[in-house]
Amino acid sequence: MSAPTAGTSHSLRSPSHLVDDLSHTLSQHPGFAERLTEDGSADVASELAIEDLTATYQSVRALTETLAAPLSPEDQTVQTMPDVSPTKWHRAHVTWFFEAFVLAEHQPGFHAYQDTYWTLFNSYYETVGPRYPRPERGFISRPGAYEVGDYRAHVDDRMLDLLASVNELSCEKLTSLVNLGFHHEHQHQELLLMDIKHVLSKNPLQPVAYPGSRRASTQVGPAQWLPFDGGIVDVGWIDDSGNNSFHFDNEKPAHPVLIQPFALADRLVTNGEWMEFIADGGYERHELWLSDGWARVNAERWDAPLYWQWDGTQWLEHTLHGTRPVRPEEPVLHVSHYEADAYASWAGKRLPTEFEWEHAVRVSGVRPPRSTGDVSGFHPSADSGGDGLRQVFDSAWQWTSSAYLPYPGFSAPKGAIGEYNGKFMSGQMVLRGGACVTPRGHARSTYRNFFPPHSRWPFTGVRLADSLSDPLD
Ligand SMILES: [Fe+2]
Repeated sequence: MSAPTAGTSHSLRSPSHLVDDLSHTLSQHPGFAERLTEDGSADVASELAIEDLTATYQSVRALTETLAAPLSPEDQTVQTMPDVSPTKWHRAHVTWFFEAFVLAEHQPGFHAYQDTYWTLFNSYYETVGPRYPRPERGFISRPGAYEVGDYRAHVDDRMLDLLASVNELSCEKLTSLVNLGFHHEHQHQELLLMDIKHVLSKNPLQPVAYPGSRRASTQVGPAQWLPFDGGIVDVGWIDDSGNNSFHFDNEKPAHPVLIQPFALADRLVTNGEWMEFIADGGYERHELWLSDGWARVNAERWDAPLYWQWDGTQWLEHTLHGTRPVRPEEPVLHVSHYEADAYASWAGKRLPTEFEWEHAVRVSGVRPPRSTGDVSGFHPSADSGGDGLRQVFDSAWQWTSSAYLPYPGFSAPKGAIGEYNGKFMSGQMVLRGGACVTPRGHARSTYRNFFPPHSRWPFTGVRLADSLSDPLD
């Protein structure tokens, strides 16, 4: 495999042409950093002054290192399946992003830190240059975790110098790219946590990645059903803010959709409810399952959520806080779309469409958490009760019944952008909301996360829906 020089790799395509491309590519990951206005709409870094850009840069970069700090160099090197990337790869890849798409374009006399890094840490951008195979990232022992730290420090120094030298004339273009870098790194912070959870789950020593105090047990009451009127409603990102707020192209164009009267559960399905599903033969009754899902159940011998294991007397759960008994009151995690759908069938309900979900959240006025430079936690809390929709953005991504498809009027841009736009819109299902490991301030009501329906390693959960009337009545 040949490695590109910095000159050849970044000259293949101007970073400024990659903005929409990257926006789409990154939209397959969950979570994006945003500053939120009072009504919950985005007010992002495109509006930031340069001094705010510098502060945000330092904050975003620091969170990645904070999350990686408890992990040894050995922890950071392991890859346990093709979907998982080593921690140090995430740390390096997000650094490569700033190097390739900001410094290479804006730093006078730019030279790549290491030409070979442009291959090792290029994720999707075949047009930019060669890339190392994703399933083999765990084969790479060098650069090590400390060398990746040196790479990060080098790029940070140059980024801060660049931001300090920016004038107002060059601000807009640079700000757009740097803002995208923030969003990109926040996505990888969630991926880092998803991936290290999977890595440590394979270790029989049951490591604790992030120590956490055990919360007191609580009681969670039955889910309440919140009704919503039907009608023609608008969905998607609406460009009415006038502030160039950040969003992905897959959230546009906004368009009207017809929905029937429906109801949503006010909280997520709990572990205790999932235990009832298991005890009632949920994983043994083919009539509950989609055909592809039933095939997965049998091929992979699913009998519980991904990180559950039966010790002979009780269910145990691997978490980022270590392995411990499953708590019935906490929301169920790490279930595939197939499992979510089967559970809904067993419960006599269904999953919401992505449009029902978005409409309900919008009219309910539920706002995403504000940015604090941190994640909400490493494991979701039990529902604390109250009125209205709860556990929307900070517990678990919620599977919908909607296939990930382009909105009417969406078209892939010409050129290299077309390498990415739209190419993921096949064979995947939409998830809405956000998870405890989504950096605070990243979620929004129009955000469309997506994964293949068999995926279980993201922080996925279930919110049930129900139809309120037969539209043919
Ligand atoms: Fe990435």
